[in-house]
Amino acid sequence: MRTPESELDSLEQSNQLRKLSHNESAAGATIVLEGKEYLNFSSNDYLGLAQHPKLIDAAIRSTQQWGTGTGSSRLVFGSQTPSKALEQWIANAKGTEAALVFANGYTTSVGTLSALVGKGDTIILDKLSHASLIDGARLSGATIRVFPHNNLEKLEKILQSVRAKSEPEQRCIIVTEGVFSMDGDTAPLREMINLKNRYGAWLLVDEAHALGIYGEHGMGLASQLACSDEIELQMGTLGKAAGSAGGYLAASHNIIQLLVNKARSFIYSTAAPPAQYAAGLAALKLIHSDEGSKLRAKLWNNLNLFAELTNTPVPESSIIAWQVGDTNKALSLMQTLREDYQLICPAIRYPTVPRNTARLRITITASHSEEHIHKLATALLELSEAN
Ligand SMILES: Cc1ncc(COP(=O)(O)O)c(C=O)c1O
Repeated sequence: MRTPESELDSLEQSNQLRKLSHNESAAGATIVLEGKEYLNFSSNDYLGLAQHPKLIDAAIRSTQQWGTGTGSSRLVFGSQTPSKALEQWIANAKGTEAALVFANGYTTSVGTLSALVGKGDTIILDKLSHASLIDGARLSGATIRVFPHNNLEKLEKILQSVRAKSEPEQRCIIVTEGVFSMDGDTAPLREMINLKNRYGAWLLVDEAHALGIYGEHGMGLASQLACSDEIELQMGTLGKAAGSAGGYLAASHNIIQLLVNKARSFIYSTAAPPAQYAAGLAALKLIHSDEGSKLRAKLWNNLNLFAELTNTPVPESSIIAWQVGDTNKALSLMQTLREDYQLICPAIRYPTVPRNTARLRITITASHSEEHIHKLATALLELSEAN
């Protein structure tokens, strides 16, 4: 039998060994790792809400009223007011009949896909879909088809072949993301809606990285494109721009009832602490408000400034994929930025992204000051010139 040591060795040999560092700071523009302070360009807290007094206050009050834990699964003990209030708010904001919250986005993906499709059904995934969506697809037992990233022609070909073979009652779900987690680009939602309507499929859009960033009230890309009501499965997480934790699925009443009955990650798991739901609700209200708009404006100012200073196109989202290609080079660039410039810009490599597409995944947030953006741009330009 292979030993854990030999497995770790082989991960190290292939540059795939990952290690946890000790972080002594709260989420924010700066981070203290192993006792040293850095500027942090690795956070998905895009609007800086994880430290916002309104979220902290909501979490404290909720803990005082409801305690720290829930003690059981919601199917056993019911839905307490904080989870119910959050679900109602999400359903209203997304324009759906209902919504269901999970402990996080990962369990939302896995629970939703495995509950809604099975053997005989088909899931069609964008090639760059997040690992949680891939895992949900695998767990479901449905046939998995993959189309090249955002390639509508290939997607249509797959839909044609699926529909030519399948029985009318068999389900087909197309899966995409509002903003892609490792590339930061967006999905052509309107065109995908046309296709899914033409071929009788459903569309799942994971707005994990679009919530808070896109839409007049920050409700995501579908909201910005005014097409939310044509998407059967609107998914997202409260762990990124919402500065809290939790995942949600907004859909019709009957789809939500199916999830309550069949999503194993919902049924067989203790409900998240009420404080998590309360902070999530406070975050969504804030994102929706004028204060949220101001934070979005600050974020987009920072993104524009970065583009101007580095002479690169304005990013489509908070996520900047600084392409390197080779894994070793990406790791060494990350290291140099950390040691010589005190900047944390994580290198992302295979298997998180396809082979030979290693990159720095730089995230700019509303918490960064213009000075922070200048420091980042200067470092990247100096290092690009040196190579
Ligand atoms: C696109 C996407 N979906 C889902 C998730 C999972 O969300 P959570 O972190 O809340 O589990 C992530 C997190 O990285 C993500 O990037």
